[in-house]
Amino acid sequence: MAEPATGKRTSLQGLWSSRLAFVLAVAGSAVGLGNIWKFPYTAGDNGGGAFVLIYLVCVVAVGLPIMMAEVLLGRRGRRNPVDTMRILGEEEANTAVWRLVGLMGVGGGFLILSFYSVVAGWALDYIVKGFSGAFNAKSAEEIASMFQALTGSWVRLGFWHTLFMVMTVWVVARGVERGLEQAVRILMPALLILMLVLVGYSITQGHFMQGVHFLFDPDFSKVTPDVVLVALGQAFFTLSIGMGAVMAYGAYLPEGTSIVGTTLAVVIADTVIALLAGLAIFPIVFAYGLQPAQEEGLLFMVLPVAFGQMPAGSVFGTLFFVLLAFAAWTSSIGLIEPAVAYLTERKGMTRRTAAWAVGGIIWALGFATILSFNVLSDVTFWRGTLFDNLIHLTSNIMLPLGGLLIAVFAGWIMCRNSSAEELDMGTGTLYQTWRFLARYVAPVAVILILLNFATGGWVTRLLGG
Ligand code: TRP
Repeated sequence: MAEPATGKRTSLQGLWSSRLAFVLAVAGSAVGLGNIWKFPYTAGDNGGGAFVLIYLVCVVAVGLPIMMAEVLLGRRGRRNPVDTMRILGEEEANTAVWRLVGLMGVGGGFLILSFYSVVAGWALDYIVKGFSGAFNAKSAEEIASMFQALTGSWVRLGFWHTLFMVMTVWVVARGVERGLEQAVRILMPALLILMLVLVGYSITQGHFMQGVHFLFDPDFSKVTPDVVLVALGQAFFTLSIGMGAVMAYGAYLPEGTSIVGTTLAVVIADTVIALLAGLAIFPIVFAYGLQPAQEEGLLFMVLPVAFGQMPAGSVFGTLFFVLLAFAAWTSSIGLIEPAVAYLTERKGMTRRTAAWAVGGIIWALGFATILSFNVLSDVTFWRGTLFDNLIHLTSNIMLPLGGLLIAVFAGWIMCRNSSAEELDMGTGTLYQTWRFLARYVAPVAVILILLNFATGGWVTRLLGG
């Protein structure tokens, strides 16, 4: 995306070269650590089946309509998320306060990237491990202590986090589209194929059916207000919605491209990758007699055991962590883009300065996460360590709140003509369904789930649960 210094992008210059390019960019932002690292461990911690079912319902009933709303607002505003929300708010309701939604998103992106980059750093470290054959014939305990040795050292975590932030800022400083489109075009299919290979390994070598039962048999006795909120948060996190990132990408979407078609493609791709990750990991967990609830270490403590056993395991292991790092890279770009677009369009900074400035702040924030695994591991409050709190605050609170406001804006504040015109799918059943989801289902679901969590189950009791 070429960056005009200010104002509305009117010419074709700066728009995605094709519909496929847009789908790839949004899919590149959606598919990342959220699918392959966060989804499996969160499902493991929250009891499996029932959590997965609630997550899937949230993806379809809340996530999809909100993603469509983000794209439509982005394309209508054609600016960074802060100014898009401000201008659309002025157009539709004569108020600039909606810019706060954009600002909250920018802040959310800062916080998410600060821990995201640390975890992406683990993947970088594991590339080296895989390549050097460190997983070969290691027991599950040995692999687990390798992970603890890594997280126990703030120097090593700091090194990889620094490298990953430099990689991210470097791409963003150059302008997002160059190279990225090409990279995603090759890497996404490669990731899909490798996930299928890993699932194939789990089918033949793991306790596959036990993994399937864990992931898909809902045990509703495990559903607490917390589990429901975490499932909702996972849906927001994995789809990259609720913070204006998709809005920032939508700003570059040409007129006349179908929003439903493109968002649906992204949602399906994202969900398939997450489920495949679960199907690859849990059969191995059970085959080695491990527990599914391993917190954030799950992926890094389980898959390497399999790589150490399978034929050509160091090739697959290296390739897997390379692809994971790439998936994280294309997502991290989406996390920082709203802030960079805002600073370049509004504050007159060059793209390069903005990217390095924002990246520097996020890099520094990342040390809260790094230290929470070692030096400050005893500092716990609310949800646990600093890292646990950052995840909870962003995924489970900020993104749902942002998404709620986006749905309310697109469904209630924006007039029907505007949204119908922008979605460009007529005013028939399809449009009516979107509008119903955006006006009622998504906002009510988010409000009830947050309220239920905050009151320790008041809504569940009211509904007779
Ligand atoms: N969806 C990304 C993942 O699954 C993480 C993410 C959350 C994100 N919000 C975002 C990425 C905004 C880009 C933009 O890994």
